[in-house]
Amino acid sequence: MGEKLAVVGQGYVGLPLAMRAVEAGFEVVGIDVDERRVKRLNAADSYVEDIADEVLAEAHRSGRYRAGSDYADAGEFDVCVITVPTPLSDGAPDLRHIGSAGESLAPLLRPGVTVVLESTTYPGTTEEYLRPLLETGSGLHAPGDFFLGYSPERIDPGNARWCLENTPKVVSGIDAASLERIRAFYQRIVRDVVPVSSTQVAELCKLLENTFRHVNIALVNELSIFAQQLGIDVWEAIDAASTKPFGYMRFTPGPGVGGHCLPIDPSYLSWKVKRSLGHSFRFVELANDINDHMPGHVVHRLILALNRRGLPLRGSRVLLLGLAYKANAGDCRESPAIEVARALAKLGADVRVADPHVDAYLAPPGIELVVAGERELSEADAVVVLTDHDRFDYELVQRVSPFVFDTRRRCRGSNVEHL
Ligand SMILES: NC(=O)c1ccc[n+]([C@@H]2O[C@H](COP(=O)([O-])OP(=O)(O)OC[C@H]3O[C@@H](n4cnc5c(N)ncnc54)[C@H](O)[C@@H]3O)[C@@H](O)[C@H]2O)c1
Repeated sequence: MGEKLAVVGQGYVGLPLAMRAVEAGFEVVGIDVDERRVKRLNAADSYVEDIADEVLAEAHRSGRYRAGSDYADAGEFDVCVITVPTPLSDGAPDLRHIGSAGESLAPLLRPGVTVVLESTTYPGTTEEYLRPLLETGSGLHAPGDFFLGYSPERIDPGNARWCLENTPKVVSGIDAASLERIRAFYQRIVRDVVPVSSTQVAELCKLLENTFRHVNIALVNELSIFAQQLGIDVWEAIDAASTKPFGYMRFTPGPGVGGHCLPIDPSYLSWKVKRSLGHSFRFVELANDINDHMPGHVVHRLILALNRRGLPLRGSRVLLLGLAYKANAGDCRESPAIEVARALAKLGADVRVADPHVDAYLAPPGIELVVAGERELSEADAVVVLTDHDRFDYELVQRVSPFVFDTRRRCRGSNVEHL
């Protein structure tokens, strides 16, 4: 197994992998087309919350990490891992980043190198889409001349317990020799490696994990709407159900789903099913529909709550707690909180947002990012908890805010209403 690694894409997935590989003894080049990111990386200025500046600085000091925006910077690598984005365009998978990464990489391939795709994508991408690109651009063939496989990434930004190293890693190859190479590579990076028999199984595994989460969140979201109308506390029912030691997994309602995974990945799966089989993946469609409506539902509930207090939304001061899409992280991509903020502002509310994890420039235009101190909390007509960051002082929130609409059940009291 060679020692030289190229990681294509230095984002939430690629940068932690690069840092862990440096720690494991590899010589690593991080390739990213975003020159501003490359500049920051080479100045040990991290933009990924889970990677501290000091970790980057230490990687530079080891002499075994550098970032570059030119693929030629990758030099003669032994292993290359691709971690570029896989967005949706008009509801369909958009593989253009994998495509351009594959085309740029192909001329650098030499016999015996290993290429692994980590980007989340539909089953068949590695073999049917990436392999031909690499073969055409290199004049080499796989299997035979180089090794190729897929390994889904399970990184959970902001999760203090489960990181890259202690989360089991599913690995696959297009043939037995590729699987063996890829397994040996990841065995140096993570504690447990889980080999599967094909790249399609590994690709589907990732989509199954995220679709499972998406569908179950939709289930409790819809249940929360009906339970509230029935006058039943859904949160208490969830707590009670969670005491069952088997056959139940806890999910809680919220203002919708955000980030790169849940709103996007299940649609990669439903697109593949529709295209290959002509069938609708009804679970995914239903879950999309329910979760997409949650920001609007939160706005509706807030309007009703203010109405009960004799206040119109227009002109009311609303302080939103949390802009990021998940707790204890600063990622705002596709965040339902941003959707809520925009909708409230459009309806004439005076909206402010507090989020200790988010840089001010990420706030939607016209919406001020403030600190959730005593004054902001007490002067708001309504405080809305959207993201349950531990760094908010919930005791203060419930003590000084006139009214709290809490979508994450972090607060209690007579001035608090739950989603
Ligand atoms: N963020 C997560 O929590 C997470 C978890 C599991 C899987 N994933 C998947 O991993 C993949 C990457 O996600 P991410 O969150 O790291 O994205 P990201 O946007 O944080 O980072 C991707 C990086 O790739 C760079 N890039 C784009 N095209 C490139 C190219 N052709 N060559 C070189 N660099 C290129 C971008 O500039 C960016 O810096 C996606 O498929 C995503 O679905 C993400």
